[in-house]
Amino acid sequence: MLSDDAILEYIRRLFAAEDDVLAAVRQRHSTEGLPAIHISSDEGKLIAVLLRAVGARRVLEVGTLGGYSGIWIARALPDDGLLTTIERDPKHAGVARESFADAGVVDRVELMEGDALEVLAQLEPGFDAVFLDADKEPLEAYYHEAMRLLRVGGLLLCDNALLNDRVIDDRDDAEDVRGIRACNSLAAKDPRLTATIIPVRDGLLAGIKESG
Ligand code: SAH
Ligand code: DHB
Ligand code: MG
Repeated sequence: MLSDDAILEYIRRLFAAEDDVLAAVRQRHSTEGLPAIHISSDEGKLIAVLLRAVGARRVLEVGTLGGYSGIWIARALPDDGLLTTIERDPKHAGVARESFADAGVVDRVELMEGDALEVLAQLEPGFDAVFLDADKEPLEAYYHEAMRLLRVGGLLLCDNALLNDRVIDDRDDAEDVRGIRACNSLAAKDPRLTATIIPVRDGLLAGIKESG
């Protein structure tokens, strides 16, 4: 490409400009001492387009952080939509609650505090989309939970599918990259799923659950 940075800037400026709320929530990561590992605005807009394409009304997010991606998701939902988002760090959850209030989406967001695997086990199927963006080591288990919870026709999303290009480094067999590889390979081979990795930011795995 001409210049990846300039192209990305063009896309962001034209399609994914942040309003004051999103800009402030992004800022809050540094002022509150949260890691700035939220999605990018262009990734947020892509997720919004995909959610609109499947007519998502009920969405599950694993890994809330400060609520940045949650705002992108909540804004892509209809008025009667609901984002359920899971976060185990109480400080992150507190910041996210403020973010959702500032964005005026509290009535469309349910924040469940706790460890993802424990919270996921309590949830009933019927989600239109699931966005996996928490720790990477348990991703095989998260994948199976996501497929259990998704309705037929639903959208599976997983962030960091390329893990800073570490997925293609054969010498790297750390637990996080193993988790990402396991999830990617399950998604690629699962006969119930039509999926690919979109090379946005750090890679977004996206798939449609075609059958139960
Ligand atoms: N989706 C967010 C970024 C999430 S960062 C955004 O784009 O704005 C990952 C988050 O997952 C962190 O806040 C971390 O505390 C949380 N997390 C990590 N492991 C978890 C687990 N096992 N259960 C619940 N939350 C977890
Ligand atoms: C990082 C980025 C992420 O999107 C994530 O979910 C976890 C970690 C990172 O850049 O370290
Ligand atoms: Mg991520």
